[in-house]
Amino acid sequence: MKDLTPARESLDPIEIASRDEIAALQLDRLKWSLRHAYDNVPFYRASFEAAGVHPDDLTCLADLAKFPFTKKSDLRDNYPFGLFAVPREQIVRVHASSGTTGKPTVVGYTAQDISNWADLVARSMRASGTRPGDIVHIAYGYGLFTGGLGAHYGAERLGCTVVPVSGGMTPRQVTLIEDFRPTTIMVTPSYMLNILDEFRRQGRDPRETSLQVGIFGAEPWTNAMRAEVEAAFDMHAVDIYGLSEVMGPGVANECVETKDGLHVWEDHFYPEIIDPVTGQPVEDGQFGELVFTTLTKEGLPIIRYRTRDLTRLLPGTARSMRRIEKITGRNDDMIILRGVNVFPTQIEEQVLATTGLAPHFQIELHREGRMDAMQVNAEALPGHADEAARAALGRTLGKRIKDVIGISVAVTVTPPGGVPRSEGKAVRLVDKRPKD
Ligand code: DLL
Repeated sequence: MKDLTPARESLDPIEIASRDEIAALQLDRLKWSLRHAYDNVPFYRASFEAAGVHPDDLTCLADLAKFPFTKKSDLRDNYPFGLFAVPREQIVRVHASSGTTGKPTVVGYTAQDISNWADLVARSMRASGTRPGDIVHIAYGYGLFTGGLGAHYGAERLGCTVVPVSGGMTPRQVTLIEDFRPTTIMVTPSYMLNILDEFRRQGRDPRETSLQVGIFGAEPWTNAMRAEVEAAFDMHAVDIYGLSEVMGPGVANECVETKDGLHVWEDHFYPEIIDPVTGQPVEDGQFGELVFTTLTKEGLPIIRYRTRDLTRLLPGTARSMRRIEKITGRNDDMIILRGVNVFPTQIEEQVLATTGLAPHFQIELHREGRMDAMQVNAEALPGHADEAARAALGRTLGKRIKDVIGISVAVTVTPPGGVPRSEGKAVRLVDKRPKD
């Protein structure tokens, strides 16, 4: 793999500024953001008043802990435009997340917000090893989802040639990669695996493509998956994080030279980690729920948003800005099986560690009597697909999960192609327990 470390002169100065400089900027911007939310969004005025706080009560960054949290239900309760902090005419774009239940959550951006977002995605891409002039293949979905358009504006801002393919039509993805010769691909990691299958189906060697870097996000994925994709395509695999409520892709990104967690772009977002049960902030380095406050967003300022994503804050390395460790999973995806907490990412690691299994998997939850039971559906690679080989693979995976995670699960290993494929975010968990 090529060394894609960006030149230091190409970075935004704030990326490598001193911590004092970053903190001073954050304090100024935080004061502005709290005031902007309080003055212009009735929801924030009411929630601050109910908590007995006022924007003037913030005199240092730690004072933010006095302010109330914002939750996904607050966006739903104010559907569709109730949290906008500017007249609707100044909102130049909306995005929305479908959500599994009820109304979608709607977010809105001013022209300045869209411009800042493009800057931050451009910064993320540069950190990933993409350079001005590169050809960028974007296979995140375009539309209400923030992935496609977010990546698109960032790639244009960086000065790239953008191929806005969106998700789906997988054979065409392969054709376009072969014909247009992009050096960067932006896509969910699970859809990248689907594209990989298609390369092999067409009898083409994925290591021969022009791709040098993949910028993967929108769902949890592990370092084991990174190793798998890097080996398959002979390219760098870098993690990009974001969420619609805070902006979209480009809230945090890994650096290609270190790949040691994602630097939060702290000049625009203030991160905290809290204990998800007590809501109390924890020290850097401690594991918990990630909370974000936007520092510059005009259209939809968000104060102490509970992401439900679980990780830790770590000091800066390749940049001064702090890192989040690769996301373990979401609170909502945590399975509690006979007292043991399990995340789909832990199952992913064991699937990838089992030679002969494809990297695709899905978890089903069943009810057996009064107990919950987990079934892992995995898939054999060609060459390991006869019944005896699949049964043996199933036993190996089951034993690994028992030994490493400490839970007993049923394992089914299907022939190649047996596990459903993703064209965007993978569905890792299918809950078949009766609703009671
Ligand atoms: O998924 C934005 C995005 C698009 C990020 C493209 C990266 C690339 P939402 O649909 O609102 O926005 O979903 C946000 O997805 O709270 C996490 O649970 C999860 N997520 C996003 N990026 C990562 C990542 C976009 N790199 C939710 N690792 C977040 C793990 C991620 N989970």
